[in-house]
Amino acid sequence: MDLTGKTAIVTGGSRGIGRAICLELARRGANVVFSYAGNKTAADETLSELEAAGAQARAVQGDVTSADAAKELVDTAKSAFGGVDILVNNAGITRDKLAARMSEEDFDAVIATNLKGAFLMTKAVLRPMMRAKSGAIVNMASVVGIMGNAGQANYAASKAGLIGMSKSVAREVAAAGIRVNAVAPGYIETDMTAAMPEAAQQAMCSMIPAARPGSPEDVARAVAFLVSDDASYITGQVLAVDGGMAM
Ligand code: NAI
Repeated sequence: MDLTGKTAIVTGGSRGIGRAICLELARRGANVVFSYAGNKTAADETLSELEAAGAQARAVQGDVTSADAAKELVDTAKSAFGGVDILVNNAGITRDKLAARMSEEDFDAVIATNLKGAFLMTKAVLRPMMRAKSGAIVNMASVVGIMGNAGQANYAASKAGLIGMSKSVAREVAAAGIRVNAVAPGYIETDMTAAMPEAAQQAMCSMIPAARPGSPEDVARAVAFLVSDDASYITGQVLAVDGGMAM
């Protein structure tokens, strides 16, 4: 899983799973360009940890729902490191409510960030990757996109959508040497899950055969494998990292 000399773009790298992915890829030798929504202090912490690990890194503030922000990330990777080899579409949000009470705004916001954001980033990297005739993309789905979850119609739709998009783009670009896979984490301890009601957290934990929540590092190692040459014949797949939750 050596990534020496590769350049990775990771969306939502300021905390949680995204930060762990940035560090894991850097530890394996990659240069890292990551985006974050707005928390500069958290982004600076990620940047310091990356630099302490000896990595070359850049942080770019920007909203994944904007095509201009996607272009800025790719331009930064090109100007700082000469190109882009890896894209991890990690940024995501939740706006949980039962469907009958969910506002149109909450539905649209989750689809825009989680699904359209990944589409815009994918579109922005495909041209340089096609020119290079190589590349690896990982989309951060969720077990919820496979199993569904009461209170998460918008989020589950976005994650199921990411799985369909991953497989479709994988088919389009496989012959050009570009691989597209999805990772489907289960219950991972981050700020996102800490914000869930206690009862919902317990309900999720009770469904894990491995009898423990996952860590951001559990997910990051799976991503590092999928973007590495060790996974060079793997494309269009969904790798669940969930302690057995969705089997
Ligand atoms: P988090 O809430 O701790 O971090 C989310 C990251 O996304 C932050 O860095 C934030 O700045 C960024 N972000 C959010 N909206 C953005 C926007 N519009 N533009 C740019 N960046 C934006 O979340 P966590 O738990 O680390 O989740 C990361 C990914 O993993 C998400 O896609 C989430 O849906 C997915 N996931 C998480 C699970 C969990 O149990 N924590 C389970 C399954 C999937």
